[in-house]
Amino acid sequence: MQNNARREINPIALFFIVFFGVSALICGIFALDFFSTDKRGSVKYVIGDEEYKLSGDDAYSQNGDILICFDDIATLCGMTVTGSSNSKVFYAENSNQKIKFSDDSRIAIINDSDKDMLSPAEMRGGKVYVPLDFVESYMGGIGVEIEKNTVTITRGEYNASTKDNPIYADATFTGGDDDPISPSTGDNGVSPTYTFVTDLSAFEQYMNPEDKDAFLILVNREKPIDENYAPSNLVDITNVRKDGRSEKMVETAEKALQALYIEMQAAGYTDVSVTSGYRSYKKQVSLYNTYTEREMSENNISREEAQKIVDTYSAKPGASEHQTGLCCDMHNLGSASQKFAEEEVYTWLIENCYKFGFVLRFPEGKEDITGYSFEPWHYRFVGRYHASEMHRLDMCLEEYIEYLDAQ
Ligand code: DAL
Ligand code: ZN
Repeated sequence: MQNNARREINPIALFFIVFFGVSALICGIFALDFFSTDKRGSVKYVIGDEEYKLSGDDAYSQNGDILICFDDIATLCGMTVTGSSNSKVFYAENSNQKIKFSDDSRIAIINDSDKDMLSPAEMRGGKVYVPLDFVESYMGGIGVEIEKNTVTITRGEYNASTKDNPIYADATFTGGDDDPISPSTGDNGVSPTYTFVTDLSAFEQYMNPEDKDAFLILVNREKPIDENYAPSNLVDITNVRKDGRSEKMVETAEKALQALYIEMQAAGYTDVSVTSGYRSYKKQVSLYNTYTEREMSENNISREEAQKIVDTYSAKPGASEHQTGLCCDMHNLGSASQKFAEEEVYTWLIENCYKFGFVLRFPEGKEDITGYSFEPWHYRFVGRYHASEMHRLDMCLEEYIEYLDAQ
């Protein structure tokens, strides 16, 4: 017999069916949200009331962790990010703190302390992405908020002194449990240690000489060097001119330069050569005269007028620190030119040379103090401690010597 009777649906069962159905739908919608695998979310950077759009891609989730562009966080905190696709190692640093990330590694090194991240750092489009959780746990002075598919990073240290350019306020890091990590550099009299992509331990004694004041000599127009002075320990520079002509430098400086070259090449910059190292008094006489005669004939001017021009870019004999054997000119152009400042490797050099004990001797903007026009190719060895201090204080050698004398 056919059963035509309709089955009655229990109202309580109906309630549960509807309740769980709707709940599953809501969960499904959330599952498609930012936090589900391979989804993206936008990032807002806020300082005070200002919102900033930075350069990195959106944040994205991967295996349950949200990854965010650390280059942008660093920019927000006034830090510099260095590193390269070749080396797959990235550093973010400010004047006294430093974080190192390696592509595909869960270890981040804050100053000299290893920290475990929830998931590995990832390199994308030349930028480094790290778990948001790491940023939240270890970076002081910023706020992190996640709402739906938007991450908001707020720069906390917004005050009267930073308000005009708050993006450049210093960031702080903590050990993750509110213990401040002591900075690896600062004017505490201790030379900082730096992490390199290559093993440079054999060069440490040269980059960071035991007698940290042994290479601080100041030579300029006001402080000329004796005509007969010649350093006793000159050696051939390994990274010679393209024409093969031998150039020399004081041994410690030359060894430190070798270390710089190894690291620079590991970062992918292989075409820089040293075009001038130690120059004797006699050599400087000949250079200065050649420049003067060239200016006279090119501009049809007197010797006196020509010398005024030459004095903006060449030291008179006895006033050139090339005679100390502690500096060198290096670049990747046909001849030394300010165009070198447009080369990517120049940025690498000024962001890294202090770690090897070198400083840019005639920086842009300090012409009135150094007495010479900007020379992006001229690097001077002073040893790591003083080079790091000059970098931290943003001082050229003249300013720094005066600063030390006033201490
Ligand atoms: N070009 C620098 C100033 C020198 O001649 O030493
Ligand atoms: Zn030079």
